[in-house]
Amino acid sequence: MLKTSLTGSPVETCSFRGRQFFIKRDDLLHRSFSGNKARKFYYYLDNHFEGINRLISYGSTQANSLYSFSALAKLKNWHFDFYVNRIPSYVKSNPKGNYRAAIENGANIIDFSTLSPNSEMPNGNIETYIKHEVIPNCTDTIFVPEGGHCKEAAYGVNMLAKEITDWAQQNNIENINIALPSGTGTTALFLQQYFIQQKLPFKVLTCACVGSDEYLKKQFFELCPTQQFHPSIINAGRKYHFGKLYDEFYAIWKELREETGIEFELLYDPLGWISLLNYLAITPNDTLPVLYIHQGGLLGNETMQPRYERKSSLKAGSNACLNASRSS
Ligand SMILES: Cc1ncc(COP(=O)(O)O)c(C=O)c1O
Repeated sequence: MLKTSLTGSPVETCSFRGRQFFIKRDDLLHRSFSGNKARKFYYYLDNHFEGINRLISYGSTQANSLYSFSALAKLKNWHFDFYVNRIPSYVKSNPKGNYRAAIENGANIIDFSTLSPNSEMPNGNIETYIKHEVIPNCTDTIFVPEGGHCKEAAYGVNMLAKEITDWAQQNNIENINIALPSGTGTTALFLQQYFIQQKLPFKVLTCACVGSDEYLKKQFFELCPTQQFHPSIINAGRKYHFGKLYDEFYAIWKELREETGIEFELLYDPLGWISLLNYLAITPNDTLPVLYIHQGGLLGNETMQPRYERKSSLKAGSNACLNASRSS
């Protein structure tokens, strides 16, 4: 039942800022297992792992992957341990978004700072700790790196690539640009690799959301040493810091919702769209149709949207004060 409903997501046509876009609605893939995590983790869902009853990973308390891992573990009937650097007390006392939903799915979220004397340990050390201190003591465990940055992700991402290929063929589209924002770069990389291996001209355009372009290239090389298989990196023309709030991010998110009727995600998608629009503006000769992949993650909006609303009302309040003091 679950397997059949994961075999396809719809493509919708919409118009934004006077241009037509196709949107691959991977956010609609499945009620509890959707977006690019469903693609990247599909290998684990679709295969049987003899003797395994525990899944371990790590990341941040509001990571989209935290919720998706918890959904996977629930579907597989596995225990799920997720290590985070630190769980802030306000998150514990008022659970929201991915954190709340993961706990409801039975996730055991482990605060690394309480295990280690140094509470500022970077994520890399969590991975070392898990690999050296945890996994050697468990024979029943699967470890998946942060965000599903691993070769196994190709299994499900190839299915997404095949769906896009079939859709393009059915619609007589010979060539198309495929746009999506990157974190670890795993989804974009395996898409581009698939299209090249199938001798299709489709170009994957992606932008670096969590680090620099150099960081993203490094992520591609970790999974695939052949540079010719790597996606094209586009950018917004300026630097943004991951997780920080930017007025233009919230503005384009609201504009997209109004014009397309689609709710996008608030961490990756605003930069994805700003970079894509920047690319289209500076590359007028590239007139190919564009398919943007909606990679899910909407539960995260439960925490991101109130943060943006608070920021907007604080700004409105300080502007009102400024105007009042000017006119007095
Ligand atoms: C909504 C959303 N978009 C984009 C990404 C980035 O995906 P990747 O790590 O495969 O580059 C993520 C993280 O998995 C995500 O949750």
